[in-house]
This record gives sequence, C-alpha cells and structure tokens, in this order.
Amino acid sequence: MSHTLRFGVSLDGTLLKRFDRLNRKKGYANRSEAIRDLIREELVKQEWIDESVIAGTITLVYDHHTRGLTDKLVEIQHDHYNIIISSQHVHIDHDNCLEIIIVKGAPKQMEKLSFQLKSARGIKHCSLTMATTGKNIN
Ligand code: NI
Repeated sequence: MSHTLRFGVSLDGTLLKRFDRLNRKKGYANRSEAIRDLIREELVKQEWIDESVIAGTITLVYDHHTRGLTDKLVEIQHDHYNIIISSQHVHIDHDNCLEIIIVKGAPKQMEKLSFQLKSARGIKHCSLTMATTGKNIN
C-alpha cells in the first residue's frame, strides 16, 4: 500500500459546480472519492487498450430450442477454453436460457469470443463487460 498524497487542482468554477452537483447525485461523500473513482476508471480503460490481462464477463440470452445453437455455443467456447475461467447456465423459463461466462485474458480475445457468440443464430442478447483483474489498480 502506498502513501496518500494531497494535490491541488485548478478548475473552472462552473465546471467545478457541475462536478459537485453530479457527485452529490451519485452519493459521493467528497471530491477526493469522486476523483479517485474517475482515475481508477481511466486506468482500467487503459488496460483494455494496452492489451493487458483483464477479467470480464459475457452474458448470453437465447432460446435453447433453436436448432444447433447449444452445440454451436459449446464449440465456440471450446475454441476459447484458454480464456474461459467458468460459466454458469440458468434456465430462465421454459424456452430461454441465460449464461454468464467469466473470462480472463487479452481484451482482443474477449471481443473475438463475444463477437462469435453474438453472431451465432438464435442468440437474443450478448454483452461483454470488460473489467480488470484489479492487480494494478489501488
Ligand atoms: Ni437452459
């Protein structure tokens, strides 16, 4: 754990007012907390660009009756077994399934996997959430 340092920020008055209003709305106790979160957010976004190893999730919703779809999804996931940590399948109702795939690897590989899943015929929803392993974020 590193030391906490203080630094001053010069800002346009109107911009600062808007920032404070937004922070109140979001429930931040003070500016420092809001600025810390903004910095972390930017550092995480940079990880996605720098091709670091990141963690993420892919959420799928599909009708399992669609011919060949479940086989196709298994095949695609086996092609990316090296970045898939775990997956969970939930039967939402008689027809629909929700699947969460937890991934860890390069952002480009994640996007490729997500794109392949999304383009499988019968997928109703597919979203990729890129996060971070948290290793370099304090
Ligand atoms: Ni199911």
